[in-house]
Amino acid sequence: MISPISPDQTPIGSGFGPATTAAEAVRGIDLRGRVAVVTGGYSGIGLETTRALAEAGATVIVPARDRIRAAAVLAGLDRVELEALDLADAVSVAAFARRFCQSGRPLSILVNSAGIMATPLHRDADGREGQFATNHLGHFRLTLALWRALRAAGREAGGARVVSVSSRGHQIAGIDFDDLDFERRPYDKWIAYGQSKTANALFAVALDRRGREHGVRAFSLHPGQILTELSRHLSAEEIAAFDALDAEGRPRIDPSRGMKTVAQGAATSVWCATSPRLDGLGGVYCEDCDVAPVHDTATGRRGVHPWAADDALAERLWSVSETLTGVSLP
Ligand SMILES: NC(=O)c1ccc[n+]([C@@H]2O[C@H](COP(=O)([O-])OP(=O)(O)OC[C@H]3O[C@@H](n4cnc5c(N)ncnc54)[C@H](OP(=O)(O)O)[C@@H]3O)[C@@H](O)[C@H]2O)c1
Repeated sequence: MISPISPDQTPIGSGFGPATTAAEAVRGIDLRGRVAVVTGGYSGIGLETTRALAEAGATVIVPARDRIRAAAVLAGLDRVELEALDLADAVSVAAFARRFCQSGRPLSILVNSAGIMATPLHRDADGREGQFATNHLGHFRLTLALWRALRAAGREAGGARVVSVSSRGHQIAGIDFDDLDFERRPYDKWIAYGQSKTANALFAVALDRRGREHGVRAFSLHPGQILTELSRHLSAEEIAAFDALDAEGRPRIDPSRGMKTVAQGAATSVWCATSPRLDGLGGVYCEDCDVAPVHDTATGRRGVHPWAADDALAERLWSVSETLTGVSLP
């Protein structure tokens, strides 16, 4: 049973579109004095997000699994700080959040961009399926552990925003609450990815409900199709099947069909994190720098599937996530 979807889940005519870049999305917005955390902020879409937020004046903290690689990639960027974090490791997530909260800094922007896609079956230390554990449960733990800092920024002008980088891949699968971890059904790497990306969108719905009275708003988004390291677990044939490469083997760029440069791919993350056009809104799924429509046969591949925008499913996922992680909001 799918419950009614928020009337806010409707395009607002932002004036931006599929070809907008991250730099264009943040142009004219002054982030000096504000602090952002970008998970996965040293690769692909996350790296471009880090760059755009830092260039707009924010201090950007990039928590990385591989700090040596991250340091090399981020060298030369002003106002970027490196930290250690493995989202699949609850101890590491708690330690990062504790260090951040001890700094006493309010957290204005949290972009949950890190992710893995279509991996072979693996499990975390608790036995949870790896894509769900990394993409959803890791960010669930992280966001709740940073809640105090988000609340502190929520009391300031501009408030706080949490941005979950979901995917159009959420249309592949909703949440199977009876077998989240593929214990009773055969593992399918795409269904597992779709489930985790639906979880990212539902997380924004439930988080926004809890945050809005405290000035903390949440959004989710589809960035577009961008050739990055995310495809590291795909074969050459699988990548070709996405029509991702041109005849010369270069990434095909056609934003009108969703095939974007990395700078275009980061634009919706940056727009969700900073646009004044989203003031007063939250809990919505965005694409192409606008609030997305609800997906139906008329929207083609665009939009959010009802199973990723449903309040009751969002609440159910929140409650299950609390149980699985043992963490709750204070
Ligand atoms: N690219 C696309 O076409 C596309 C389309 C739709 C949605 N998305 C979403 O966009 C987000 C970013 O993807 P991308 O294309 O930028 O991919 P990417 O270049 O592979 O970046 C992913 C980042 O996540 C980090 N990460 C992975 N597992 C982690 C863990 N356990 N702990 C901490 N960090 C971890 C990676 O670090 P390591 O390098 O150290 O592993 C990397 O920095 C993902 O959530 C993805 O689902 C991408």
